[in-house]
Amino acid sequence: MKKIGLVGCGAIGEGVALFIDRNLSKYAYLTTLADKRKTAANSLNKKLLKKAKIKAINNLMKEVDLVIETASQAAAGQIMKQNLKYKKDIIILSVGAIIKDLQILKKFQEKNINLYIPSGAITGVDGLSALAKGNIKKLTITTSKPPAGLTGTAYLKSKKINIDKIKKPTIIFSGNVAEATKYFPKNINVAATLLLASKYDKVKVMIKLNPKIKKNIHKIEAIADEAKIKIEVENASSKINPKTSALTILSTQTLLEKIFSSLKIGS
Ligand SMILES: NC(=O)c1ccc[n+]([C@@H]2O[C@H](COP(=O)([O-])OP(=O)(O)OC[C@H]3O[C@@H](n4cnc5c(N)ncnc54)[C@H](O)[C@@H]3O)[C@@H](O)[C@H]2O)c1
Repeated sequence: MKKIGLVGCGAIGEGVALFIDRNLSKYAYLTTLADKRKTAANSLNKKLLKKAKIKAINNLMKEVDLVIETASQAAAGQIMKQNLKYKKDIIILSVGAIIKDLQILKKFQEKNINLYIPSGAITGVDGLSALAKGNIKKLTITTSKPPAGLTGTAYLKSKKINIDKIKKPTIIFSGNVAEATKYFPKNINVAATLLLASKYDKVKVMIKLNPKIKKNIHKIEAIADEAKIKIEVENASSKINPKTSALTILSTQTLLEKIFSSLKIGS
């Protein structure tokens, strides 16, 4: 039985925790939860059939086999650094944290640490990682968001963009993945996932504010010698957090299922 620790008991954390508790109980159990809001950890724990302990991140990492981060870039950064000591398998959702510290991947490789990244709010990550072995010439992601998906973003404040005044679809950001991750730490993990899957460091990211839509839409276009790939994903929100897509929760559950199952489909 694998012992799992979960850091972050919000929308994704809850979806993942309940899945482990109800569907993976033959192979693994959640031993420990961590959240900077103790009330979030307590309320999730009440929903679990098999109760977990609630601990700080450091103590959680010591005692589990697999750590799942579903919290924030700050938490992901802390877990990855501490994992150089603890050497646990980890699943990271706040993928932007990896872009900020790409050197850590080499250190994980040297220490035989498994780092898993779910496909999250996008699809086609299998094909894009296959193209990493080919010759990619262009890779772009255009993410369209309704105003509610961007409220409170520091970038909009710093650029003095008033989203209430935007009445038609408008590109509010265009840049590379490192910039997108810095300016939109909670909104554009998918761009970081694309870069890591494709190993193509010139991924172009555009964020479009569209007052006419209610859902996030990701359009990905890859041009390579071996294939042209076009992907469009229209995401429904999770019930708990309107900024998080339901697909992210399902894809994380699927990754976990793959880790514990003998049938491993796709890359
Ligand atoms: N990879 C993807 O495709 C993808 C998609 C959506 C969201 N995300 C990312 O996943 C993470 C979780 O998303 P969510 O929708 O569940 O968020 P959420 O706000 O619903 O929940 C996050 C929880 O983590 C806790 N938390 C935040 N920082 C923490 C810290 N430093 N230490 C301990 N606990 C902390 C919060 O208190 C909260 O309970 C976010 O970083 C989000 O940007 C990734």
